[in-house]
Amino acid sequence: MTELTKHFAVIGNPIHHSLSPQIHKAFAKEAGISIDYEAVLSPLDQLQETIKTLMTQKFNGANVTLPFKKEAYVLSNKHSHQASIAEAVNTLEFKDHEIIGHNTDGIGLVRDLEQNLHIHLANQKILLIGAGGAAEGVIYSMLEKEPSELTLTNRTIEKSNMIQNKMYAHARSFNVNLNVIEIAKLPDHYFDVIINATSASLSDADLGIDNKVFHAKCLAYDMMYGKETSFLKQAKSQSASSSDGLGMLVEQAAEAFFIWHQVKPQTKSVIHLLRSN
Ligand code: ATR
Repeated sequence: MTELTKHFAVIGNPIHHSLSPQIHKAFAKEAGISIDYEAVLSPLDQLQETIKTLMTQKFNGANVTLPFKKEAYVLSNKHSHQASIAEAVNTLEFKDHEIIGHNTDGIGLVRDLEQNLHIHLANQKILLIGAGGAAEGVIYSMLEKEPSELTLTNRTIEKSNMIQNKMYAHARSFNVNLNVIEIAKLPDHYFDVIINATSASLSDADLGIDNKVFHAKCLAYDMMYGKETSFLKQAKSQSASSSDGLGMLVEQAAEAFFIWHQVKPQTKSVIHLLRSN
């Protein structure tokens, strides 16, 4: 690597499983850009120190993953529009001793749905399960696509109500009906796109969704990747189409790559590469 090589990292805890180094190196190779990209394990209470160390070592930026996205928002000096709304950051730019925080998760999800899976969200009825950082981070990008309806549900329904209140004005500005419905009261055969943004898949826990919520014409999308979750198994058993979140991972990385290098990388070949590993 020459001194023109730019340095990046993904910070998380745990981090050994991260595919981000492989994805960014593949984008860079294809774009003819020289980068170094490493996975950095940060102690849970030392994100600030970890970021400072990277900046001292002249890193150009970093991705941030679980459980640090909210804290990275607080530590950023400036925020993109998407990051301000989500109050969470997954991409940092280090510029003139300042930290600029971006959030590319929502763009990543929407691009995977629309460009890779050919599901156009305009006028669709979407159900989003979960009310943690992962769910909150993608809502604005979905509203921008003007679905007819976005329904939020969660095990702890009060959290969905809080997000609804927070996003109400945005939903109105895009003319989207933003609802909250308890899991046990979800209507049968109603939603076109059902997205699992909970972390229940980590423990393979059942979400308690009735089989009839799924149907042959809906897409069930799990933001997790790497294994078939019980959510996707249930959806398939009801003849729904299904997808894991690997495409979202690659698309959010592509947007981070664009922020850092002003080059839009090819994503399909990288998704294909990761699927065949
Ligand atoms: P993340 O940043 O991944 O969103 P989080 O903020 O801890 O993580 O949120 C986790 C989400 O997964 C929440 O919506 C959580 O539901 P609660 O708000 O009721 O805690 C959901 N979740 C986690 N484990 C779950 C389980 N076993 N069943 C249902 N929902 C679960």
